[in-house]
Amino acid sequence: QKEIRIGLLGLGTVGSGVVRIISNHQEELYKQTGLHIHIDKILVRDTNKKREVPIAPDRLTVNAEEIIEDPEIDVIVEVMGGIEPAKQYILEALKRKKNVVTANKDLMALHGAEILRIAQQNRCDVFYEASVAGGIPILRALTDSFSSDRITKIMGIVNGTTNYILSKMSQTGADYQETLEEAQKLGYAEANPGSDVEGWDAAYKMSILSTLGFHVAMNLSEVDVKGISDVSIEDIELGKKLGYEMKLLGLAKLDDQKIEVSVQPTLVRNTHPLASVNGVYNAIYIEGEAVGETMFYGPGAGALPTATSVVSDLVSVVRNMKLGVNGQKMVAPYKEKRLKTDDE
Ligand code: NAP
Ligand code: HSE
Repeated sequence: QKEIRIGLLGLGTVGSGVVRIISNHQEELYKQTGLHIHIDKILVRDTNKKREVPIAPDRLTVNAEEIIEDPEIDVIVEVMGGIEPAKQYILEALKRKKNVVTANKDLMALHGAEILRIAQQNRCDVFYEASVAGGIPILRALTDSFSSDRITKIMGIVNGTTNYILSKMSQTGADYQETLEEAQKLGYAEANPGSDVEGWDAAYKMSILSTLGFHVAMNLSEVDVKGISDVSIEDIELGKKLGYEMKLLGLAKLDDQKIEVSVQPTLVRNTHPLASVNGVYNAIYIEGEAVGETMFYGPGAGALPTATSVVSDLVSVVRNMKLGVNGQKMVAPYKEKRLKTDDE
């Protein structure tokens, strides 16, 4: 086999970034995999739409079966978003022994356990680094770098859109609605930006981080969620006068065998490193019993940072394909089992 053939589901912000990186970094990708990565077909809703990247029209399709059922396609990259039909396409691809890379946090937070179980049954990989904090390799850090530790706390800014809005309001007194529209134009916001501003996007990410960090299946109803739509410029300015910055903070704590997860607008002391994380940037603290406190910082959304994570996952899939070990390095964190309680 000289090349790996990809079926791309979605050619919006992230999909266009994936096309760019695969095209611009062919040499690096080849050096690391020994194979040429080739995007065969791309699923979109509208084949006539003007695209961010040059794509031959015959590679676009509105018919998912053309991609999922094509025996020549080795890997599906899902960057269309939403639950259905993305879930159905991914499950169908796995049943056909195609590996999957996805950036879909809604799907992995709500249906990750099922998807990973079916992946394992079919000896396929499902990697989803881009689903949390765009270009920051935080899932790899949690699952590989800290696999020897006992994680006690995960805290941070995990939504780029709300951080972009809050920091612009704080720095320039910008209007909430106008700034949200800017974040949409820049490709940071979800197709339904309500998910960003009401805190759900951050809740999905905190749920994924908690699942991987604490090795339990999180239920989203256990996450205490509040977004920024009620935060006013007056709240932000009063906080500033008192020496605080308003941030949408995700917090997950393991305390005495209990896990608490929340997403809340929070006044952060301006001397704290999180207070100076501005714009689309994210930052995540991970605290482990042995390692102590660590902080990860980088672009949390946007085409190229997010696509970097997607294509790096693709490289991992290809490496596993060469070793014949797909689907053998995951799932454990998703065992559908809670931590023991005192009386167990
Ligand atoms: P987007 O710009 O809205 O692009 C979605 C793409 O999927 C479009 O090309 C659209 O086709 C296609 N699509 C959507 N539903 C479809 C359907 N039912 N059938 C066929 N094609 C369909 O979204 P995005 O910002 O790239 O986000 C994609 C995923 O990445 C989401 O899960 C999101 O949460 C995640 N993510 C995004 C970012 C970011 O910075 N944007 C960062 C991390 C993760 P048309 O172009 O024809 O409309
Ligand atoms: N809408 C998300 C955000 C995209 O603003 O953080 C990255 O996951």
